[in-house]
Amino acid sequence: MPGADIDDIDELLKEKNPPPLDEDDIALLKTYGLGPYATQIKKTEKDIKDMAKKVNDLCGIKESDTGLAAPSQWDLVSDKQMMQEEQPLQVARCTKIINPGADDSKYVINVKQIAKFVVGLGEKVSPTDIEEGMRVGVDRNKYQIQIPLPPKIDPSVTMMTVEEKPDVTYNDIGGCKEQIEKMREVVELPMLHPEKFVKLGIDPPKGVLCYGPPGTGKTLLARAVANRTDACFIRVIGSELVQKYVGEGARMVRELFQMARSKKACIVFFDEVDAIGGARFDDGLGGDNEVQRTMLEIVNQLDGFDARGNIKVLMATNRPDTLDPALLRPGRLDRKVEFGLPDLESRTQIFKIHTRTMNCERDIRFELLARLCPNSTGADIRSVCTEAGMFAIRARRKTVTEKDFLEAVNKVIKGYQKFSATPKYMVYN
Ligand SMILES: Nc1ncnc2c1ncn2[C@@H]1O[C@H](COP(=O)(O)OP(=O)(O)OP(=O)(O)O)[C@@H](O)[C@H]1O
Ligand SMILES: [Mg+2]
Repeated sequence: MPGADIDDIDELLKEKNPPPLDEDDIALLKTYGLGPYATQIKKTEKDIKDMAKKVNDLCGIKESDTGLAAPSQWDLVSDKQMMQEEQPLQVARCTKIINPGADDSKYVINVKQIAKFVVGLGEKVSPTDIEEGMRVGVDRNKYQIQIPLPPKIDPSVTMMTVEEKPDVTYNDIGGCKEQIEKMREVVELPMLHPEKFVKLGIDPPKGVLCYGPPGTGKTLLARAVANRTDACFIRVIGSELVQKYVGEGARMVRELFQMARSKKACIVFFDEVDAIGGARFDDGLGGDNEVQRTMLEIVNQLDGFDARGNIKVLMATNRPDTLDPALLRPGRLDRKVEFGLPDLESRTQIFKIHTRTMNCERDIRFELLARLCPNSTGADIRSVCTEAGMFAIRARRKTVTEKDFLEAVNKVIKGYQKFSATPKYMVYN
């Protein structure tokens, strides 16, 4: 009865010390506003979430990998509407500014294939954003400038910039002391102490060619260089420059150097350069001319008819004999660094580097292992380490023993000998 209740409360209020709530009361208060199955539903929801996470874990997919919001959160209708409301802009070039700095300054724009216009600024652009010679976006009615655009460079060229530095350092390279030293001299010294070269009056070397058998650490060293410098690092794989249409490859090279020149300091790394740098010859068919044109553009850019800025060029190949001599003549790639097979000490070091993160038995005789792998490259040794780990996994052990390594050496070095890449090249004695 409501009346009685109010009386009760009045009585309670009158008392100075109302009795404290006991546990039953608290439990009752907590259920206030909850449906009869609320807790069960909550629990089931949590179970489902856990289960989904477990499934994803087992599939090896992290949430960040999919990169999408959950489909239930998609709002396609409003997205579509938004896209329709925003008018597409047209690309134009601002060729001249009339009365710069004044309130009533006007802009001469050149819309390709249409005409030139004198226009004003849109609402969202400030006059300081626009410079002469800039690419801009204009609307289609009044041709007002709506946004400044970055300089035009092929997106596939922009993609080649290495933004996330690789996690390889000079410490991860076994042996190759001389090569590291030579590379650093060419790359780091001119960037850190340009004044030394100015004082002497010589031009610093422009580039380095790394050559040697496969798997000896050429790409690895370039990655370490990329990690070390603060300069922008651009990586191009030779085959990427071989394009379908005539002149495309050369244009990409030009745009690449254009982009490099716009940076304060930049390192351009051409990997597997034999794809484009082949010697010029006439096969009588007029075939592969496109490839040669691309290479000639690189030669041209290396000569630096345009001011080159602080650009260093690294190249890597394992067929130096097929390269065009023009590419190698002094003044273009001055330094040639040979990567040979690692000697005993280096091999021991490489073993240690690759087992650093492995869960190995203590006191493994790496020197003995290195002795057992004569004439093998860094890549071979890495393969031995992986294979040793596989033996341990197969035997359901958690640590890798020396015996695993010995078996792996047998398998990789002896077993795969017929696939070995090294015999054709100089063999280390
Ligand atoms: N000196 C070394 N120290 C440590 N690891 C090495 C060394 N040389 C090679 N390796 C290992 O071998 C792998 C392959 O080496 P890398 O990619 O540098 O070969 P490469 O010389 O570029 O060969 P290719 O001419 O075929 O491109 C590296 O990822 C690295 O793990
Ligand atoms: Mg390589």
